[in-house]
Amino acid sequence: MIRFGILGAGRIAHTFAQAIQSTPGIMHAVASRDLKRAQSFQSRYPIAKAYGSYQDLYDDPDVDVIYVATPHGLHYTHMMAALDAKKHLLTEKAFTLNAREAQEVFDKAKTQNVFVMEAMWTRFLPVTQTLLKRVSDGIIGPVKSLKATFSFAGDLRESGRLMNAELGGGALLDVGIYPLTYADLFGRLSGAMTSQHTKSKTGVDLWNKIEIHAGDFQATLESGFLDDKPREAIITGAHGKIVVPSFWAAEEAFIYDARGVMIEHIHHPHRVNGFEYEIEAVIDALNHHLLEHPIMPHAKTIEMLEHMDAIRNEWGVVYPREKITS
Ligand SMILES: NC(=O)c1ccc[n+]([C@@H]2O[C@H](COP(=O)([O-])OP(=O)(O)OC[C@H]3O[C@@H](n4cnc5c(N)ncnc54)[C@H](OP(=O)(O)O)[C@@H]3O)[C@@H](O)[C@H]2O)c1
Repeated sequence: MIRFGILGAGRIAHTFAQAIQSTPGIMHAVASRDLKRAQSFQSRYPIAKAYGSYQDLYDDPDVDVIYVATPHGLHYTHMMAALDAKKHLLTEKAFTLNAREAQEVFDKAKTQNVFVMEAMWTRFLPVTQTLLKRVSDGIIGPVKSLKATFSFAGDLRESGRLMNAELGGGALLDVGIYPLTYADLFGRLSGAMTSQHTKSKTGVDLWNKIEIHAGDFQATLESGFLDDKPREAIITGAHGKIVVPSFWAAEEAFIYDARGVMIEHIHHPHRVNGFEYEIEAVIDALNHHLLEHPIMPHAKTIEMLEHMDAIRNEWGVVYPREKITS
């Protein structure tokens, strides 16, 4: 049996634990910087071990895969340490601060002969997979435009992970990655890319809007922490359109023909909370001795980070570690 360990007992670690607990025995350990916090987490789920240091998790020979659930700015350090211990990795988005760091992680993973995947759960959702098939079958004709928005009223305390530059804060890496992913899946991430942003006092982006003009395809991608906006994606084709509410976590989508008549309602309610699909993908990949998953291969993680690097470069959003290493 493949056994998982969770690194960091924060908010998303709970979502992960809820999804994985339905398979008895596979969630083996949780590690926190604080033993009491790890034990409190352990008390809520069927987990054999609770550790008060991340090193204890790296050192546990019974852990095969580590789910890295720490802030973006720490993923690189935590992954490199876990790779020293030859652990397979499933790491939350955004995978690292930039493409260079991601490449170093993948290079080391190759040397250590272990599996690594960015936890971009949206790509694994049944709604996403069904929509990819419908679009490639031509249900709305060639895709002409995409509008995707992920904006919410976030925690704007300067020390929090959304705002703190040391922790890799900023809307682009946190939520902007989802509209960009939709553009990659259903449109194009090429051509002319222009963008606007609002910067925080801490030097990260609070809000951004990215526009892509690539021949006959256009996209408007918006993300931010400043306010709640309708969070949906609209994919428009030559012969119809698709509306996907909460597209990054989609449980349903509505397909309309050119006259605006709904022709299909795709509905795949999550069995748990939607994380189960990426978890199953990791287990399946490991059972097949793969080092990367075809739905979220290393090259795709690098490509997405390269786009975000280029956008941040235009804005002058540079993380403290990048200033030191550049
Ligand atoms: N897939 C999704 O839908 C989704 C949704 C939200 C977030 N995420 C991703 O999940 C990751 C974590 O986000 P989150 O919302 O769970 O964050 P969070 O609640 O702040 O939890 C992050 C955890 O990281 C650990 N950590 C280690 N060093 C830290 C430091 N210096 N400062 C703060 N925390 C530190 C802490 O755990 P201990 O104190 O227990 O060690 C903390 O609880 C991010 O990559 C984020 O983008 C994904």
